[in-house]
Amino acid sequence: MLALMSKKKSNTPRPEALSQILFMQGFGTRRECEGLVFHGLVQVQGEVVDDPDAEFLSDGLSISVDGMVWICHDVALVMLHKPAGYECSLKPGAWPGVHNLLPVPLRRRGLQPVGRLDQDTTGLLLLTDDGPLLHKLTSPKHHVPKVYEVTVKHPLDERQQAALLAGVVLDDDPQPVKAEAADIVSDHHLRLTLTQGKYHQVKRMLAAVGNRVEALHRSRIGRLPVPDDLAPGQWRWLDDPSLVLP
Ligand code: URA
Repeated sequence: MLALMSKKKSNTPRPEALSQILFMQGFGTRRECEGLVFHGLVQVQGEVVDDPDAEFLSDGLSISVDGMVWICHDVALVMLHKPAGYECSLKPGAWPGVHNLLPVPLRRRGLQPVGRLDQDTTGLLLLTDDGPLLHKLTSPKHHVPKVYEVTVKHPLDERQQAALLAGVVLDDDPQPVKAEAADIVSDHHLRLTLTQGKYHQVKRMLAAVGNRVEALHRSRIGRLPVPDDLAPGQWRWLDDPSLVLP
C-alpha cells in the first residue's frame, strides 16, 4: 500500500512516465504497471499507449486501465456516502471497512478517513491520502462545522435544546462541549451542528440531556451537503477542498 504522505503538486508539474503514473494512482506494483502498459491495456485520452516510459502530465490525465476509466488525481480527496454496517477503522473487526466501498486503486493508495463515523451512522465521510490536508481537516483549530440529523427516542424539548447549546459535560473531559446549533425539526428529529469531533460525541451529548440516539446521519461538512445523487455506498472525487475548510 502506498504510504500517506504530502502529495502537494509542485508549482511547475513535470511530465512523468506512464508506468510511474499508474503506480502512483494505485494500479499495482511498478512491475505490474509496466506490464499493463506493455500489454496494451492502457489508453491515454482514448489512444492505446504501449510504451511504459511515454511521459505525460499526471494530474487530470484521463486514462483507461483494462477498461476502467480513470481521471488521475495526484492528491486523492473523496467523499463517500457511508451506509450503516461499515466501520471506519483501517483494521475493521466485526463489520466490513468503508475501504471496501472504494475502487481498488484508491484502496491501494491507503486513503484515511477524515474523522470517523460509528458503524451504525450514515452520511458524509471524507477520505484522503494527503497527510497535511488530513491534518488541516481534523485539527480542532479549524472548527469545520458538521451537521447531524439525529433521530431520538424521547420527544425533544426546549430544556434539552438549551442544555445542548449551553454545553454539557461528557465523562472524559471536565470542559463542557456545546453545539453550534440545535434545531428541533420535529418531536424526534434534531438537527445538530458541531465543530468538535469527540468519540461518540452526538450520542453522548444526547445521553447527557436525558435522551437517546436511535439513528444518526451526517448531512453536511462545512459547505458540502451529501449530494442528492450520491446513493449510500457511492463515492465521488472532491476536487474543491475549500468546501470543507472553514
Ligand atoms: N457522533 C456520534 O456519536 N457518532 C458518530 O458516528 C458521529 C458523531
